[in-house]
Amino acid sequence: MSKEQLIEAAKEMLNFSYTPYSNFKVGAALLCKDGSVYTGCNIENASFGPSICAERTAFFKAISEGKKDFEAIAIVGGRNGVIEDFCPPCGVCRQVMSEFCDPDTFDIYLANAENKIVSYKLTELMPLIFGKDRI
Ligand code: THU
Repeated sequence: MSKEQLIEAAKEMLNFSYTPYSNFKVGAALLCKDGSVYTGCNIENASFGPSICAERTAFFKAISEGKKDFEAIAIVGGRNGVIEDFCPPCGVCRQVMSEFCDPDTFDIYLANAENKIVSYKLTELMPLIFGKDRI
């Protein structure tokens, strides 16, 4: 699947994002090395703490179905579901990615309102990872 297609899959998820508190909607699409795709959206909660980001929704869906090898994730987001600027993953989601992905090869695709796609390796967004090799 191309990065353009993965971005489109992430955009679709903006429709399912549940955000009565922030109104900031995020969609993600996670590409596994076997070609399968797991999507996710952010899901908020009145108690705030149990809210979850789109990226972790996608990862936990995939991992809970036995997937462990990941190639790339596409992320889009914006206020009221309108994409304006790039929507980079939060620190907690970067940490979750670092548990399962090779930081030198895993790609993170972001798209803005003009549908310009930028691509980062996980290591660029998260240098000096505290990972399982340190425990
Ligand atoms: N959010 C995500 O879904 N992913 C991120 O990486 C950043 C933030 C969500 C959480 C919350 O529902 C809303 O965006 C505003 O922070």
